Amino acid sequence: MMKVGILGSGAVGQSLAAGFLQAGHAVMIGTRDAGKLAGWVQQAGSRASAGSFAEAAAFGNLLVLCCKGSAAEDVLLLAGNDHFVGKVVIDVTNPLLFQKEGLPPTLAVGYPASLGAKVQQLLPESQVVKAFNTVPAPYMANPRLQEGTPDLFIAGNDDQAKTTVRDLAAGWGWTVHDLGGIDQAYLLEALAMLWIRYGFLNNHWTHAFKLLQK
Ligand SMILES: NC(=O)c1ccc[n+]([C@@H]2O[C@H](COP(=O)([O-])OP(=O)(O)OC[C@H]3O[C@@H](n4cnc5c(N)ncnc54)[C@H](OP(=O)(O)O)[C@@H]3O)[C@@H](O)[C@H]2O)c1
Repeated sequence: MMKVGILGSGAVGQSLAAGFLQAGHAVMIGTRDAGKLAGWVQQAGSRASAGSFAEAAAFGNLLVLCCKGSAAEDVLLLAGNDHFVGKVVIDVTNPLLFQKEGLPPTLAVGYPASLGAKVQQLLPESQVVKAFNTVPAPYMANPRLQEGTPDLFIAGNDDQAKTTVRDLAAGWGWTVHDLGGIDQAYLLEALAMLWIRYGFLNNHWTHAFKLLQK
């Protein structure tokens, strides 16, 4: 059983928390307001808890960063750098900039920069793996769509950390493609934008990517 600290209480945090709990792990969701998760904790069972970002970061052997992209640096500060040392950090964030209601967001950073690379730079003693950021929250731990199972693309510098994420994702049913180091995270964040752009243009929000091979 792993102890997983999930830094983010939104749709992503709750969907991944459900996946980890179902896989038999213990989860603490980190938030600025743990009180709002009282109902979730009650229904999620004895291996689920909620706390501050710092409490969740201290709790987990494996950490998941899934806060609003523009708040990522603040969340890492609130969580406390020391709590990340030597740990695998799954970075699910996208650096989205919402400029006008009803219009698709843009990326706040792009090639060759990325939020994934920034997170790794801010956590030099952690093994950051960008993953799940190209997938809608409800499918992250349950990638079964009507037209098949999509693929998961990941990037990170540490092979062992990527194996941890690959095994975890495979357990949920994903086929995983490793794109290389965290310097490739810009590709994954741009791929998330492609997902978002398609959604806005077609008013369609239940799609996901698959790499087909002959
Ligand atoms: N939703 C999806 O389907 C999806 C798919 C792929 C990737 N992503 C990415 O995953 C991340 C999480 O997405 P989400 O939809 O679950 O929720 P979200 O609304 O983007 O993020 C919610 C989390 O961000 C925290 N937060 C927001 N503003 C903050 C601030 N100023 N200071 C500190 N913390 C702040 C919230 O803290 P509190 O708990 O204190 O409210 C909450 O924990 C995002 O980066 C998103 O782009 C989302």
